[in-house]
Amino acid sequence: MTKQIILNAFEMNSAMHNSHGFWKHPENKRHRGYKDLNYWVELAKLLEKGKFDAVFFADVLGIYDVYKKSKAPSIRDGLQVPLNDPALLVSAMASVTNNLSFAITVSTTYEQPFGNARRFTTLDHLTNGRIAWNVVTSYLPNAARNFGLDEMIKHDERYDIAHEYLDVSYKLWEQSWEDGAVVEDVENKTLVDPEKVHEINHEGKYFSVEGPHLSEPSLQRTPVIYQAGTSEKGREFAARHAECIFVGGPTPERIRYYADDIRKRAAKHGRNPDNLKFFSFLSVIVAETTEEAERKFEEYNKLWSADAAKAQYGASGYDIAEYEGLDPELPFEYTKKTEGGHYKAAALTKDAPEKLTVGDVLNRFESLDRNSIIVGSPEEVADAIEFQFKESGVDGFNLNHLVTPGDLESFIDLVVPELQKRGLYKTEYKDGTLREKLFPEGSSLLPEDHPGSKFRRVVVES
Ligand SMILES: Cc1cc2nc3c(=O)[nH]c(=O)nc-3n(C[C@H](O)[C@H](O)[C@H](O)COP(=O)(O)O)c2cc1C
Repeated sequence: MTKQIILNAFEMNSAMHNSHGFWKHPENKRHRGYKDLNYWVELAKLLEKGKFDAVFFADVLGIYDVYKKSKAPSIRDGLQVPLNDPALLVSAMASVTNNLSFAITVSTTYEQPFGNARRFTTLDHLTNGRIAWNVVTSYLPNAARNFGLDEMIKHDERYDIAHEYLDVSYKLWEQSWEDGAVVEDVENKTLVDPEKVHEINHEGKYFSVEGPHLSEPSLQRTPVIYQAGTSEKGREFAARHAECIFVGGPTPERIRYYADDIRKRAAKHGRNPDNLKFFSFLSVIVAETTEEAERKFEEYNKLWSADAAKAQYGASGYDIAEYEGLDPELPFEYTKKTEGGHYKAAALTKDAPEKLTVGDVLNRFESLDRNSIIVGSPEEVADAIEFQFKESGVDGFNLNHLVTPGDLESFIDLVVPELQKRGLYKTEYKDGTLREKLFPEGSSLLPEDHPGSKFRRVVVES
């Protein structure tokens, strides 16, 4: 059978996400709607109608303030602000869907593992196992100051913390409660057997947690683990812990390179590389005809906010304003090691298909980047998606949308049927939890080769 595309809607519980300046578009409903439960309920129904696998909620814990050393450009254009908590949307969206899953971003740098584990178990219970956790280490200096630090913890140490955070989480999810702990034994007046609920007594470098976990085990116990980040440390983290990996890169070849590298690293950790799924970014402008799609592109381009795009690039740790006014012919180079996210920094330097000048880079921010958006008729868009899918070897995409929900509706009405006709996209959902849908050969629980499963309690039958 043809390998089929796994599709997530790339979202944020925010006025704006990756659609810089498009709040000005008359049909954009998100900057008003995101505060309204009904907006999210309708979005969930729409995505399930389009057979989306999941809605993937990005999240950050501060304002982008590297560009021009100011928060104003981000705030002015609503760049991921105002921003509400994504986890609180899930129950309502799950209540009107049966198959759509939810990936929620939570940072290991600022939140404690004990509370986070309970949040995910709760969501896994309430959704019947439709939950994933996108593990991030955070890159915004403002976030550090929001959580009581003078400056960000260094890039590589953030990943060291994340490893221990995951170990604590596995202990809570996999080890603390035995199967069958809830006995409902009326005769012995016992709801839960205390012998089957265990403290975890974790004492580590960064965390100390006694336990037990407060929640009883959910269908998946550990949520499906997502990760993104292509630095050395980021890839090593993905290879150990992630089941789904979001790989960014300017070309399909670069994406394939990173995915292959992570697969090799996973094998070194004793994991079957087939137990990892890879995703890349997808952005589409589609209409009934090529001409109409091109017109839409031009219309959007007029609304584009270069300032918001430059502010978002601050996630790399580099202030692009420092290059403005320099000779455009100069080679584009960085001068310091960044403590921000390496992926964005690499995209314009070591990962770029050709060496870029200052002028090239600054120009890229000035308009909608045609190279990263597929524009065309349903057949043209499906051709381009098929090409990316096959060339990069990914398993799926996180679909960005510029004007919401209109661009998602167009995608579902025009592109989904074309992909289905080609056998590249499901016509029916598979049964089961998110993990079972993603890995039909496996079960709801982490596979045996995953490090989290090593924490499972071995029950000796007497
Ligand atoms: C597609 C994609 C989505 C991401 N979403 C988030 C997010 O929602 N919140 C966040 O703090 N970081 C997010 N990140 C950042 C990564 O988790 C990571 O911190 C960043 O890429 C730096 O990691 P690196 O230095 O290993 O590349 C995302 C990265 C990528 C590529």
